[in-house]
Amino acid sequence: MPSQQAETEYQEPVTPGQRPPRIGRVPLVENTLSMIRDPLGFYAEADSVDADVVRFNVAGTTGYFVTHPTLVEQVLVTDEADFEKGRLLRDTLGEFIGEGLFLLEGEEWQQQRTALQPAFYRERIATYGETMTDFALATADDWADGERVDLLPAMRSYTLRVLGKTLLDVDIERTAESLEPLLSALRHRVDPGNLSAYLPLWVPTPNNRRVRRTRAAFEATLDDIIAERQTEAAAEREARDDVLSLLLSLDEETMDRERLGHQLLTFLVAGHDTTALTLTYAWFLLATHPDAQRELHEELAATLDGADPTPADLFELPFLDRVLTETLRLYPPAFTTFRQPTRPVTLGGYDIEQDAQLTIPQWLVHRDERWYDAPDAFRPERWTDEFEAQLPDYAYYPFGGGPRHCIGMRFARMEAKLALAAIAQRFRFEAVTEPPLELGMRITLSPTDPVAVRVHERE
Ligand code: HEM
Repeated sequence: MPSQQAETEYQEPVTPGQRPPRIGRVPLVENTLSMIRDPLGFYAEADSVDADVVRFNVAGTTGYFVTHPTLVEQVLVTDEADFEKGRLLRDTLGEFIGEGLFLLEGEEWQQQRTALQPAFYRERIATYGETMTDFALATADDWADGERVDLLPAMRSYTLRVLGKTLLDVDIERTAESLEPLLSALRHRVDPGNLSAYLPLWVPTPNNRRVRRTRAAFEATLDDIIAERQTEAAAEREARDDVLSLLLSLDEETMDRERLGHQLLTFLVAGHDTTALTLTYAWFLLATHPDAQRELHEELAATLDGADPTPADLFELPFLDRVLTETLRLYPPAFTTFRQPTRPVTLGGYDIEQDAQLTIPQWLVHRDERWYDAPDAFRPERWTDEFEAQLPDYAYYPFGGGPRHCIGMRFARMEAKLALAAIAQRFRFEAVTEPPLELGMRITLSPTDPVAVRVHERE
């Protein structure tokens, strides 16, 4: 990525028709091995190339890193009709959530997005606030003063409970029984450190069998829940505000039973780990930055005065908002966005062939010193109105952009802020795991080792 400060224009090729600079001398072999062995190092290598479009070869496929905000915007927003999600994502996720919103294309996607949008309207999301706060308080209830807490499992359990309740209106026990085993099997299945990640689902490895078994159990639970709803009195049924009731209210052509399963699984997969990781990183950053943690405590005390947080309170908690924004800048759980051009396109003056794999990495753009001073430092206070006004669009895009931006963004931000506010009022976090965090690029940006803190009850 070019190193000049305050550079707002991307670098164009010197000679027309020139190809973008590439990583590595023997591209095919080198890039494939380093991408699989050490994806973070591979991204760092792309970052060290002095260009905004960088070519690579992985497993015989040509790809490009695209790292200038103007070009990010071109792909995700301005010229979005020329790009689709692409092979890479379909190959990894297709067998689980092929018919879900995340992977659909064209008219089918448009129709489903329109049908599902009401589930994520502001007013509807606000009704989930109480669930989010209550489950956060229940998470804190499980902790004793001075206890060492492994953050990611605790936050996963929290976000899963919230999804179980808001998507399906099921209690914690049922969530634990039917959703937890499925998501843990899926997580294992797509872990590149695990051999079966490279084998199709029909190959009967123990893990693939586990995925198929837990998937069948999930579908059976879903059938039971739907059957229970059908015997409910109409008034009772209409009083429910979970996502499943919205899906069931759609006509059969828009949302048949199979598609309904895919959509719910998509929401589970897209909304579970992402938000749990966000919370894990936020607690880690607060624990290792005691001044920021103190400022958050002061803001919470001044605004809430010990009361449990509600969605309306979030408007009055600007520092909390900045903590979350800065956390998602430094550790974007969706560390990259993939796209594939459906026809030859020009990006930053370079000709890009149809079907090339584009990698549009939040991980690099969010830490580019052209847009952020001390880009690796955790500085929630940088997010002033003036800073945001001069920041180029798409120098920050943890939830993607354009028509395919995250449908769950408002849900996730509200959930994370309510959990941070509710728990920070009860506990102060002391760092056990020290920086730097060891990270891995799986489906999401994940710590490779446990991230631990010690929790201290506040007076
Ligand atoms: C901090 C948490 C989250 C992050 C960082 C995140 C990030 C993203 C990103 C970057 C995209 C765009 C992907 C692309 O353009 O290829 C996306 C799409 C999506 N997200 Fe999220 N997400 C989060 C939480 C959620 C939640 C809670 C839900 C649902 C309950 C959700 C459901 C979806 C769906 C269905 C899509 C596909 C939308 C479409 O293509 O129309 N996400 N997410």
